[in-house]
Amino acid sequence: MANKDLRDWIAAIDAVGELKVIKGAEPKEEIGGIVDIYMRKMGNPAVLFDEIPGYPKGTRVLANILTSVPRINVALGIPAKSTDMELVQWWRKYMGNAPSIPPKEVNGGPLMENVMEGDAVDLNKIPTPVWHEHDGGPFIGTACLVIMKDPDSGWINYGAYRVQVHGPKTASVMISPGKHGRILMNKYHDKGEPCPVAVVVGVHPAMFMLSGLEIPYGKSEFEAAGGIFGEAVETIRMPKTGMPVPANAEIAFEGYIYPNDVIQEGPLGEWTGYYAGGSRPEPAIRIETMMHRNDPILLGAIPAVPPNDNTFYLGTYRCGAVWNQLEAAGVPEVKGVWAHEAGGSRFWLTISIKTLYGGHAKQAGMIAAHCHAGAYCNRWTIVVDDDIDPTNIDDVIWAMSTRVDTREDIDIIEGGWSSALDPMCYDGDTDRRNGRVIIDATKPFRRKDTFPIVARSSKALDARIMEKWAKDLPGA
Ligand SMILES: Cc1cc2nc3c(=O)[nH]c(=O)nc-3n(C[C@H](O)[C@H](O)[C@H](O)COP(=O)(O)O)c2cc1C
Repeated sequence: MANKDLRDWIAAIDAVGELKVIKGAEPKEEIGGIVDIYMRKMGNPAVLFDEIPGYPKGTRVLANILTSVPRINVALGIPAKSTDMELVQWWRKYMGNAPSIPPKEVNGGPLMENVMEGDAVDLNKIPTPVWHEHDGGPFIGTACLVIMKDPDSGWINYGAYRVQVHGPKTASVMISPGKHGRILMNKYHDKGEPCPVAVVVGVHPAMFMLSGLEIPYGKSEFEAAGGIFGEAVETIRMPKTGMPVPANAEIAFEGYIYPNDVIQEGPLGEWTGYYAGGSRPEPAIRIETMMHRNDPILLGAIPAVPPNDNTFYLGTYRCGAVWNQLEAAGVPEVKGVWAHEAGGSRFWLTISIKTLYGGHAKQAGMIAAHCHAGAYCNRWTIVVDDDIDPTNIDDVIWAMSTRVDTREDIDIIEGGWSSALDPMCYDGDTDRRNGRVIIDATKPFRRKDTFPIVARSSKALDARIMEKWAKDLPGA
């Protein structure tokens, strides 16, 4: 039985009103310019570009993919209307006991409808957008799988590392130090050998989501994807490198990264909303084979000023991860975690708790700001009471405005774990740390029972009014 593919997901999001088709946009700046406007507001539909000038009708680009909770829900196979917090709970459960099904090799699949080898390879057959005005070129790989094999153990890893097009048979890949792809590539280069690699663009978004997540070292994302689908991912082997790729992917190419073979890469607008990382020499991929389905679809997840497609889905996952890590550290009564998208889902965390003792909120804030899932590129961590919806920024600002005693509720911790992409890290490239603020915006525990009561209807009154007056209420 063939796996669900990108086209199944497109049909499913279309069925719930989450898809817009746009015809005739140019790949240079226009597609990216339209996507930029769509991404500025959460809840806008995904955009499928067709009839791209200079390309056959049917050769398409899909972007603004996972910038809505319903579209993430559909990708993960949960009801489209599940709430933000239900999605966070799904991630928590998933991470607690991630199911795993090994991939299954098959003899062929739709990806092999068009196969080009040697000089016939031409990346320019794909309408690859220059996504932002100041980008250094077209980036075919954003929502991609960069697939590599551990030469020692045979472990297959894939990760989302950006891939730029430099010519018909040349691309580059930017993999940060410490990422699994970098570690695997170095293993070949340390022995003076070329590193085999396959790049896949256009897969079911659940497979792409795993590409951008920290699946543990030694575990294959293909197995994790099988666990989400509830069936083995069917793969075919690329002819030169033997690298496994999903049989129903839209576009794939393979080749080698040779030792010391670098090419000036970037810049690409980043998820923080800046060009802080800039342009540097990065590994070149010399391509030997390219395949694509008939009417291929390039899938893009574009970083930009948040909200953006690089960070929103990672935010819902991060909420679940931070929540699990708070509980693992012994913090009781966590009621919600939200990584606000305006902070690229990293710079701003809100934790809601039912406070049980003096110091409880401070404990939660300190741990959230420094646990593994929350520490990287954090700047603001706000702890609120359980009557505050952490996903609602108005509620959060109201709590910060009315429940903070500046003498004891604001802590600044210097020297946190940050990144060269953080425009405010201490010293650019050489000192990738930052300072962060932890704010206790819960009611002072010692005054909990005497704190002024809230001037908003109780849940019981709300429910009664909603039942009796439903047709007269806003949104009816
Ligand atoms: C859309 C998107 C683009 C990304 N681009 C890069 C990139 O260019 N380089 C990089 O090192 N990490 C990038 N990341 C983050 C990695 O994909 C992420 O850290 C992932 O865990 C890497 O896989 P690994 O854990 O197997 O190394 C990106 C993530 C997403 C979602």
